[in-house]
Amino acid sequence: MNSPGHEVLNAFAADVVAPMFSLLGDSPVMQAAREQILKLAASSVPVAIYGESGSGKELAARDIHSLSARSQQAFVPVNCGAIPESLMESEFFGVRRGAFTGATEDRPGFFQAAHRGTLFLDEIAELPLSMQVKLLRVIQEGKVRKLGSAREEPVDVRILCATHLPLAQAVQQRAFRQDLYYRLNVIELRLPSLRERREDIPLLCEALLRRQLKRVGPVTLTAEAVAALKAHDFPGNVRELENMLERAAAFASNGVIGAEDLMPRSLPSCAAVSCPQEPSAEIGPVPADTSSFALRVRAFERQLIIDALREARFRRARAAERLGISLRQLRYRMQRLDIHEPD
Ligand SMILES: Nc1ncnc2c1ncn2[C@@H]1O[C@H](COP(=O)(O)OP(=O)(O)OP(=O)(O)O)[C@@H](O)[C@H]1O
Ligand SMILES: [Mg+2]
Repeated sequence: MNSPGHEVLNAFAADVVAPMFSLLGDSPVMQAAREQILKLAASSVPVAIYGESGSGKELAARDIHSLSARSQQAFVPVNCGAIPESLMESEFFGVRRGAFTGATEDRPGFFQAAHRGTLFLDEIAELPLSMQVKLLRVIQEGKVRKLGSAREEPVDVRILCATHLPLAQAVQQRAFRQDLYYRLNVIELRLPSLRERREDIPLLCEALLRRQLKRVGPVTLTAEAVAALKAHDFPGNVRELENMLERAAAFASNGVIGAEDLMPRSLPSCAAVSCPQEPSAEIGPVPADTSSFALRVRAFERQLIIDALREARFRRARAAERLGISLRQLRYRMQRLDIHEPD
């Protein structure tokens, strides 16, 4: 039975049955991670996702949600490190109309928004202790009360969290409540670094370049470029690879990225930030192509922030002050521009 029609039917069936993952990679470690995700998607237990920066923690959380029975409901990602402490309670639990001046109508919080769906608490280790107590109560009771309201409302929320720090260590240092840790850390999902799965690099490059197709047109990598990438350590993992390809694609001539296009001296690489002793990278020759305007602005902004961080000896509050922006803005920009302090 090998009629063309039969084949089409098979292909269709495979499409329907095969789970759709955003998390790519054929290496044994990635296959194992995906298998675990599939199992986790079938239940509603809380999962703590661990992995280096840029290793795909948020993507894994999205996969767990979209493969679960909750996929038709909301996935609500929350960066716990980016919300001012004074606003946390209202952001998480909502505000009742009239609770304070300006609260002209009821406003739902993250919990209400994630009702029947998934709440993804990113950078959970940055949650202040005062908020940890409140979060624990909501998780235990399955009910939230809006700020200024006397009424509790039931919420059905699956909680996923992520951190690049070992949460158990934060517990030992008394920066994280042990009771909340046990509630959140029911199952651990660990994502491998890109160094541990170098064989996935060609496949990832192809997928990442395809994502940029609309913006930069078709781009290929030379064999030397692939070899150079396979030899690189990627402290910023897939996000670093993504940024590197985006930059290289903007500089590449005739749609071909060579090894020399990958880490041009003119732009700071992620590795440069991880090593404070290194002399500051310079903003180099301006590429002629005007479509790279956004990339040049990005590189400039990145350099300003890196310099301020170095001058402030990586004390973020001081660096923010120097730059004349809020600490929150600095955090946000560091995340967006893939800037990480040395450990
Ligand atoms: N296995 C993967 N396959 C495809 N893309 C990936 C994979 N892992 C990460 N990415 C991509 O890399 C980028 C970073 O991923 P993500 O935001 O999930 O990382 P993260 O672990 O949450 O990072 P951070 O600790 O900095 O928050 C995203 O653009 C994501 O799409
Ligand atoms: Mg993340």
